[in-house]
Amino acid sequence: MFSKNEKLQPCWHRFIGIFLFFMYFIILIAPTGAVGLDALNNSCIDCHKKLSPFTDEQNRFTEIRLNHTERNVSCSLECHEDVIRKRASDNFQQWSDSDHSKYYVTCDACHGGDPAAKTEAGAHASMKDAKDPNSSIYFKNIPDTCGKCHAEELDHFKNTMHYQRLRSESLAPSCKTCHKPHTFKVLKASELIPLCSVCHNQKDNIATASVPQDAKLALEKANEFQDEVIKARKAVTEAKASGKDVTSAQLDLDKANAVMKDIPYLWHAFNLKDFDRQIQGGIDSAKKAEYKTSGVEPTVPRRTPGFGIIMALGIFAVLYLFRKW
Ligand code: HEC
Ligand code: HEC
Ligand code: HEC
Ligand code: HEC
Ligand code: HEC
Repeated sequence: MFSKNEKLQPCWHRFIGIFLFFMYFIILIAPTGAVGLDALNNSCIDCHKKLSPFTDEQNRFTEIRLNHTERNVSCSLECHEDVIRKRASDNFQQWSDSDHSKYYVTCDACHGGDPAAKTEAGAHASMKDAKDPNSSIYFKNIPDTCGKCHAEELDHFKNTMHYQRLRSESLAPSCKTCHKPHTFKVLKASELIPLCSVCHNQKDNIATASVPQDAKLALEKANEFQDEVIKARKAVTEAKASGKDVTSAQLDLDKANAVMKDIPYLWHAFNLKDFDRQIQGGIDSAKKAEYKTSGVEPTVPRRTPGFGIIMALGIFAVLYLFRKW
């Protein structure tokens, strides 16, 4: 009997271990513990998903009314409600297409309010207006609201001119300037120029007018680095499978992987020179790892020194000869 129990015990440990492991992942992936939007039991979502977006005709009327307000023509309260209602449903639409919806980061995570209350008034009661300086979505408070979950981005962002300016005046980008509510997409390099040049341009000359171009190049280099890391990972895996000693290559790959993990955080420090230096370090490590597994020299663009000068001299000589004729 006793010995049988002893044999069973490790088995139970493993079972509990596996169970906890899965629970951990479920909690990690779904903070609210729900699997589908319907099962969320979150009144913000339940109600907001039912707010219907406007029909084309309603949109047209809203636009006409909006034009009136822009021209300072007094407008009935009704039209403002329309605008707010539309925003509330559009925002739901955008949110439901975003990663935040996939990870069940619901409206209340950023807006507050009471997601257990079933009525609109009850749910909204503790929610503050965006213009209220105490609101979680008041311009200056947005970084801290996002930083509850994106702590590393916030830590790096806090050391920037952007953050300091944001706290003192308001001409500085906040998380929402670059990550449009409520799609919250990660921007591509090609999308940076129009965004950054709203402030960094020849006319206003904030920081330097070259910022947008530099930022684009920096992110492009980060993309190139990601390709390099993928190649290096593949090379090391293949070398390992064919029985080669990859200890040294693995060390370089680990270095590259560490830089890769840090990219989003490094980026939010908005120190483009440092960003560039770190990315270059990562590229070098990845290329080294690849080189050590294959023995093939990394491809560095080669240029004969003074090639341009030799060509120019040659052309000049030929022209000179023709003139002499
Ligand atoms: C029973 C329905 C209902 C529930 C529950 C509900 N809302 Fe709303 N919400 C609305 C409607 C309708 C509007 C459009 C504005 C209006 O008509 O007052 C709105 C507007 C909003 C707005 C825009 C407010 C503004 O003044 O610009 C936000 C933000 C918002 N809701 C967030 C939330 C959050 C967060 C929750 C959960 C804690 C929530 N809502 C729960 C129906 C609801
Ligand atoms: C990740 C954070 C986040 C989530 C999740 C989120 N919002 Fe927002 N929302 C914001 C921020 C930040 C703003 C302020 C944008 C601005 O200032 O332009 C905002 C603004 C709004 C506004 C305009 C409010 C105003 O007064 O102008 C509405 C309406 C709104 N959100 C509705 C929703 C609804 C409905 C959901 C859920 C389906 C939701 N939001 C989920 C961050 C979030
Ligand atoms: C309650 C936690 C929470 C809050 C608050 C929150 N986020 Fe997120 N965010 C997440 C999770 C979870 C993901 C998906 C996993 C990941 O990419 O880390 C995510 C993803 C993102 C992404 C990447 C999306 C993609 O397509 O890869 C961006 C950008 C983002 N959030 C910006 C913001 C901004 C800006 C705010 C504040 C307005 C904010 N988040 C507030 C939890 C949160
Ligand atoms: C001036 C513009 C700008 C500001 C301000 C900004 N971001 Fe970003 N953010 C970007 C760009 C561009 C990327 C894509 C960089 C990359 O490829 O890693 C990004 C990437 C991200 C990602 C996705 C990282 C990933 O690839 O998984 C998250 C999350 C994020 N930002 C959150 C925040 C938060 C939170 C704040 C505010 C504290 C913030 N951002 C402020 C421009 C900005
Ligand atoms: C809403 C205006 C605004 C936008 C949009 C904006 N910036 Fe800035 N940026 C500023 C201000 C203000 C400063 C501080 C300039 C100064 O005082 O020297 C600054 C400074 C900088 C600096 C110098 C950093 C330092 O600490 O010295 C860099 C780099 C920078 N921004 C990058 C970017 C990038 C990249 C983007 C686009 C993704 C961007 N900015 C978008 C307003 C903006």
